[in-house]
Amino acid sequence: MAKARVAVLISGRGSNMAALVYAAKQTDCPFEIVLVAANDPDAAGLKLAAAEGITTFGHSHKGMKRAEFDALLDAEIRKTDADYVALAGYMRLLSPEFVEKWAGRMVNIHPSLLPKYKGLDTHERALAAGDKVAGCSVHVVTAELDDGPVLAQTEVAIMPNDTPDSLAARVLIAEHQTYARALANFIRAQSK
Ligand code: GRF
Repeated sequence: MAKARVAVLISGRGSNMAALVYAAKQTDCPFEIVLVAANDPDAAGLKLAAAEGITTFGHSHKGMKRAEFDALLDAEIRKTDADYVALAGYMRLLSPEFVEKWAGRMVNIHPSLLPKYKGLDTHERALAAGDKVAGCSVHVVTAELDDGPVLAQTEVAIMPNDTPDSLAARVLIAEHQTYARALANFIRAQSK
C-alpha cells in the first residue's frame, strides 16, 4: 500500500521531526515525510531535513496575520500532496481555519501527561506540583490548545534531584519513540 504523506511543522531544533524522519526509513513504516516547514527560516531542524533530502520551507511569521501565515503554510503543504500534518515542537498557535482544514489529520506531541499541564513550562509545573511521574502525549489537534483526543502516552519517572532540564531530557527520549509509534498506529487505523 502507498505510504501516507506527512508534512511536519517545526520551530527549532526539530529532534521530534528527526525521530519521525528516521522512523519513516523503516520499510514497514506506513508514512513518509514529504515536507518539513518552519515559522523560522533559521530553524536548525530545516538543515537536518534538507540533509535527508526532504523538501523544506522556512518563512518567518513576523509581520503577518496568523491566518495569513497559516494560509501560506497550507499552500506549501498542499503542494506536496500531504495527507497528514505532524506538529513537532511547532511553537505557534494555529488559526481555526488551518485547524479546520486538517481536522482529524493533524497530530501533535506534547511534553506532559495530558490533560495535565497544557501549554508551556510543563516540566517546571510537574516538579512544582511534586508529581512522581511526568511524560508525553501524542494527540489529535483540535481548536483548543493541547486538548484533542490522546492517541498515546508514555510515563517517565521523576527522580529526586530532577531539574526541569534533566526531566525534559528524559521525556524527550520518550517523545521520540512515542511520536513515531503513535503516528504509525494512527495512520494504520485510518487506512483500514
Ligand atoms: C519538545 O519537547 C516538544 O514536545 C515541545 O518542544 C520540544 C521540541 O523539541 N513542545 P524538538 O524541536 O522536537 O527537538
